[in-house]
Amino acid sequence: MPTEPLTPVLDPYALARELSGRHLIGGELVAAASGRTFDVVNPAKGEVVGQAAFGDAADVDRAVAAAVKAQKEWAKRPVRERGRLVAECGRALQAHVEELARLITLETGKALRTESRIEAGVLSDSFVFYGGLATELKGENVPFSPTVMTITQREPIGVVGAIIPWNVPLLLMALKIAPALVAGNAVIVKSAEEAPFTVLRVCQILNGILPPGLFNMLSGMGPECGAPLVAHPKVGKITFTGSVETGRIVYRTAADKLIPVTLELGGKSPMIVMDDADLDKAVAGAVVGMRFTRQGQSCTAASRIFVHSSVHDEFVGRLKAKVDAMVMGDPMDEKTDIGTIVSPQQFERVKGYIEAGIREGGTAHTCSALPEDPSLAKGLYVRPVIFTGLTNESRLAREEIFGPVTCIIRFDDFEDVIAQANDTEYGLAATIWTNDLKKAMDATQRLEAGLVQVNQNLVVQPNISYGGIKSSGLGKEASLEAMLEHFTHKKTIMINMA
Ligand code: NAI
Ligand code: MG
Repeated sequence: MPTEPLTPVLDPYALARELSGRHLIGGELVAAASGRTFDVVNPAKGEVVGQAAFGDAADVDRAVAAAVKAQKEWAKRPVRERGRLVAECGRALQAHVEELARLITLETGKALRTESRIEAGVLSDSFVFYGGLATELKGENVPFSPTVMTITQREPIGVVGAIIPWNVPLLLMALKIAPALVAGNAVIVKSAEEAPFTVLRVCQILNGILPPGLFNMLSGMGPECGAPLVAHPKVGKITFTGSVETGRIVYRTAADKLIPVTLELGGKSPMIVMDDADLDKAVAGAVVGMRFTRQGQSCTAASRIFVHSSVHDEFVGRLKAKVDAMVMGDPMDEKTDIGTIVSPQQFERVKGYIEAGIREGGTAHTCSALPEDPSLAKGLYVRPVIFTGLTNESRLAREEIFGPVTCIIRFDDFEDVIAQANDTEYGLAATIWTNDLKKAMDATQRLEAGLVQVNQNLVVQPNISYGGIKSSGLGKEASLEAMLEHFTHKKTIMINMA
């Protein structure tokens, strides 16, 4: 029975209180089986804004039971109906963009204008996009013999577990949930410790449209709530975004169960600026690529910028000026370009890397200014740092920082820079900035990354497949391909007519 659409709540504090202490299981907002909760903190002010339900294996069991039941009925529905309902979710979410943007800003400290609103918009687009792809769940007719008709068909996997991080939770949940549902699966989302409420609010909005139990949302810690979800015998697929370390744990458990996984892990994405590059565009591309507006908290962050010696100093000067001009402040304020780091742990980790860079002999060009507002004194603000004088061997160039810290590395030779760019554990994304067509084309063929861009640094789009190689992960997200390859099984059917 369809319920009344929810009215957007523009006061994120009120919404955080309202959503406190709840999972979404079987279409109901329910407390954790244990009754436990944990604090959710606004990192811009250091204040507790609510308590999230502390999920554990008992909650996982309840969610899986609800999902198994709902999935059977859902998979029998005509694909166009499944697509229509998922697209309707997208349209319903459109009415909540401002509400969701404010709530995500409250939980994560991401700037409302430059980050959260954009993310909430893409969330809605992704549901509409996947809803429209429902009838593309086609099989094939395989030529074999005139008397044996051989066809393939795409079937849902069953129950999908989706584990998401805190940095772009809405976009990442959309890229997991929407294709999984359209393909006929049920989903259980496990939100990140730091950002449970916005994800829960999205699930509450969808709950008015989709059948109860088709998707369920649990909040909680990795080991207590994420691990039993991965290990549950009735969860047939895990799609995970997060750290390499946790990705390996998830993959090991999935290996024991022999179930498929999609892993979106870290990155150390190179950006190469050749001597003939349009420097204005390259500098603007570095600001976007480094996600300075998100305090660099991105797996795709352009955290190794290789700049040709002849333009190195000019590039550093211009980049510093551009980042200096960005306003760091209250993330809810429309004037703010840069918000805070998400949590005290990440804050300490990022500061540790900045100290390590200085110890390794790098020069730290510290940019922008800390906010002066005394109400933000407890906020997790880190001034962005551009390092020069470090090599590709340094810790800062090898390890994922997940903060507003980039290394600019000087180079002279094209062959050498391609080798350095590829000399990393990761392979998520790469860019090259040049007007030399031959070099650009050559680089696109030789850079080891899931996504290579020339003279641009676009962020993830719903219709373009995205995913890394090497330690950056397994499988693709976004696009039709991701829905077909990662949320369905292919069954072959042979009919002997002789
Ligand atoms: P994480 O990988 O530990 O957490 C991501 C998600 O996995 C969260 O929902 C968490 O609860 C869950 N999780 C943790 N342990 C689990 C387990 N044993 N089984 C199942 N699920 C589990 O990442 P965290 O601790 O938030 O950040 C640490 C570092 O990871 C960051 O500094 C950054 O380098 C990287 N990271 C990368 C992201 C990406 O987009 N690729 C996103 C977030 C973090
Ligand atoms: Mg962790």
